[in-house]
Amino acid sequence: MRKPIVAGNWKMNTNLSEAVALAENIVRQLNVARIDKADIILAPPFTHLYRVSEIIANKHKLHLGGQNCHQEANGAYTGEVSAGMLRSLGASYVILGHSERRQYFGEDDVLIGQKVRAALENNLRPIYCLGEKLEEREIGKHFNVVSQQMQTALFDLEEADFRKLVIAYEPVWAIGTGKTASPAQAQEVHAFLRELIAKRYGAATAENTSILYGGSAKPDNAAELFDQPDIDGGLIGGASLKAEDFLAIVYALPCARR
Ligand code: 13P
Repeated sequence: MRKPIVAGNWKMNTNLSEAVALAENIVRQLNVARIDKADIILAPPFTHLYRVSEIIANKHKLHLGGQNCHQEANGAYTGEVSAGMLRSLGASYVILGHSERRQYFGEDDVLIGQKVRAALENNLRPIYCLGEKLEEREIGKHFNVVSQQMQTALFDLEEADFRKLVIAYEPVWAIGTGKTASPAQAQEVHAFLRELIAKRYGAATAENTSILYGGSAKPDNAAELFDQPDIDGGLIGGASLKAEDFLAIVYALPCARR
């Protein structure tokens, strides 16, 4: 069975003391018994990872994630952080291919594919983000766009490696805009992605892959998104910066409402 996951992508927000307070509030308020089946991931800025790893160390449902990594293991790449460094800080996940990396830092699927491999070599589970821009949806190209993103970055992975991945569908027009994809729009793309995975790796792998939705998910729309059969949780930006909102989204997972 695929795992329900809610991940908080803090992006370039919080100074160290704010990050500590946020992580401590989440740890204090999280009722682990309610989310027995789920994983919760916190992805703070690199500079706060080590401190946050100490705060969440004894909460077995809370995992640490990086927001990016470099494709090389080490070397003269000023300002960059490798997958091995993230792993040594206690991270078990890394967000790769976020649309902000694609848009502002020129990342393409070939490069993101290399980062995915670097992450896997270092025992990090990639959260691979993909999604169409507004103009692509408006001309009905969204299925082609996400299909191309999956194929170029991921589909030459071995099945055993692909199974370590989490996929996050984040329509670019919904990120930070307050405009959420409707549950039906999101479900349609998630089902399409699962079918692509089934065609490439078989039904069992498709059934086991967690596909998260991201883009203006909030406490008041999370439950209806998470109720869709192919939406296995969320990758949360803005609403992950307040412990109460983030946890309300966590508790909107169907497994936490039973
Ligand atoms: P928002 O939740 O702020 O729209 O951001 C979504 C996102 O980009 C998560 O990675």
